[in-house]
Amino acid sequence: MSLFDEAAKTWDTKPHRVETAKKVGEVILSSVPLSKEWKVLDFGAGTGLLTFFLSPHVSRIYALDNSKGMIEVLKEKIEKLNAENVEPVLSSYGEVQFKEPLDLVVSSMSVHHVEDVEELFGWFSSILRSGGYVAVADLLKEDGTFHKDNTRVFHFGFEREEFEKYMVSAGIEPVSFKVVHSIERNGREYPIFLSVGRKI
Ligand SMILES: C[S@@+](CC[C@H](N)C(=O)[O-])C[C@H]1O[C@@H](n2cnc3c(N)ncnc32)[C@H](O)[C@@H]1O
Repeated sequence: MSLFDEAAKTWDTKPHRVETAKKVGEVILSSVPLSKEWKVLDFGAGTGLLTFFLSPHVSRIYALDNSKGMIEVLKEKIEKLNAENVEPVLSSYGEVQFKEPLDLVVSSMSVHHVEDVEELFGWFSSILRSGGYVAVADLLKEDGTFHKDNTRVFHFGFEREEFEKYMVSAGIEPVSFKVVHSIERNGREYPIFLSVGRKI
């Protein structure tokens, strides 16, 4: 059982997680021209905090996560909310084929858990249509104190230049980068950015 499997049952009880997903979702809505026709992927969706915020605005949203525990909680929420356009996908990245190219990939607080970010962005690019968007939120560079336990934390946040390089090498043009929220912990602030890009 992974750390995330264990954390899944109580994931939504932490207000900072709910608040972060809401903030990220609000800025995605104001930064990306979402359409009711769009097919979207939420990478590292967890219990779907961001997924369910965006689902009323799009046609279909795939909530992909490689934690069984997270996907179980997500499935319970789909039933409870009757969210018919949310499709859970238990998988890592790179292992799934979608029927058609997607319009948008979103992600919140998950990319720092992926070792090879260049490979991840290459996969995002491969599943997007030309002109499709990525909107990814994560921690700005920190000193390794954000997580109590750094198991499977491969990056202590990111600098803008570093993040946009991953996009460019995947054929995604950076569009905007802004700090959208901040989490208070250990008597200090950990800013969270949203980086938006468009597949060329
Ligand atoms: C910090 S949680 C964020 C969850 C959710 N986005 C939120 O904001 O509440 C990171 C999530 O990424 C998932 N994850 C990490 N590596 C992954 C991978 N390679 N493929 C799919 N999901 C992954 C974890 O299982 C976990 O649910």
